[in-house]
Amino acid sequence: MEYLTLNTGAKIPMEGFGVFRVPDHDICKQAVLDAIRTGYRLFDTAAVYRNEKALGEAVREAIAEGLVTREELFITSKLWVQDMDYESAKGGIKRSLDMLGLEYLDLYLLHQALRDYFGAWRAMEEAYSEGKLRAIGVSNFYPNILTNFCETVKIRPAVNQVELHPWFTQEDALETMKYYGVIPEAWAPLGGGRYDVFENEMLKSIAASHEKTVSQVVLRWNTQRGVVVIPKSTHKERIEENFNIWDFALSEEEMKQISSLNMGYGGTRTKHFDPDFVRQVLSNKIHD
Ligand SMILES: NC(=O)c1ccc[n+]([C@@H]2O[C@H](COP(=O)([O-])OP(=O)(O)OC[C@H]3O[C@@H](n4cnc5c(N)ncnc54)[C@H](OP(=O)(O)O)[C@@H]3O)[C@@H](O)[C@H]2O)c1
Repeated sequence: MEYLTLNTGAKIPMEGFGVFRVPDHDICKQAVLDAIRTGYRLFDTAAVYRNEKALGEAVREAIAEGLVTREELFITSKLWVQDMDYESAKGGIKRSLDMLGLEYLDLYLLHQALRDYFGAWRAMEEAYSEGKLRAIGVSNFYPNILTNFCETVKIRPAVNQVELHPWFTQEDALETMKYYGVIPEAWAPLGGGRYDVFENEMLKSIAASHEKTVSQVVLRWNTQRGVVVIPKSTHKERIEENFNIWDFALSEEEMKQISSLNMGYGGTRTKHFDPDFVRQVLSNKIHD
């Protein structure tokens, strides 16, 4: 495992485990326990995923069994849109901590740049100063939004979690994050079930030449360009496969070939810019 250093001085593992769209309590808990046994230490949930409780239970069980210590883990959750103002955010942070059953989170993110996210950020800055949130960051902040945010807030975000995979490489976003010392974290690093990733001939050929799988190549590509990845799977063999990316390296030529798949837009970029989508999120009809 490799690590990056956040603007807080804390280390973040370059690979973690995401639990989006795993609403079933027992399935989520089992997947997290499998991931901890495999070696994952970073876990990514969100208030809106409705599985903070399952993640928290798995983590506490693993600690009780002596599989891992709390200090070795890096637990992330996110504040949802309905809590996006100063007063509501205080409640949202407390709810996440209570649901997870943890005294502190290693990272807490503003899930979307919607409603009063500056007010919510002030509540997160306070929780950070109190030690309840060891680092605070953002998600889905496009370069213009991130720039305005970083130029305005007191404490700059440690992380920006955005869609990053070979079909949406977002080089411009990475440049902006680098400029402000914000660590990029990829959601949907395997394409999130889109793009027929595992059938791509070029990726299959690169994978074969390294005796690796397409999944491992795609994850490796992101980490090799300095991006933290948080793939999701509820299958033990895939959880293990996805973690096995630290014993090979892609050449510069292979990195370029993979980046050439870039389409310049992603699964939700178009949605995020759609007023209808925004209205539906605000009215609590979409949790995405
Ligand atoms: N901040 C945000 O707005 C945001 C948005 C989306 C996601 N996220 C975070 O990012 C994490 C990852 O994104 P994601 O879950 O959307 O997508 P992803 O990790 O790119 O892809 C997950 C999909 O790939 C499949 N898969 C995983 N490993 C595989 C393998 N080795 N071979 C074949 N198929 C494989 C999974 O199926 P199985 O489970 O059936 O194996 C699942 O359908 C989420 O869990 C969440 O924590 C954040």
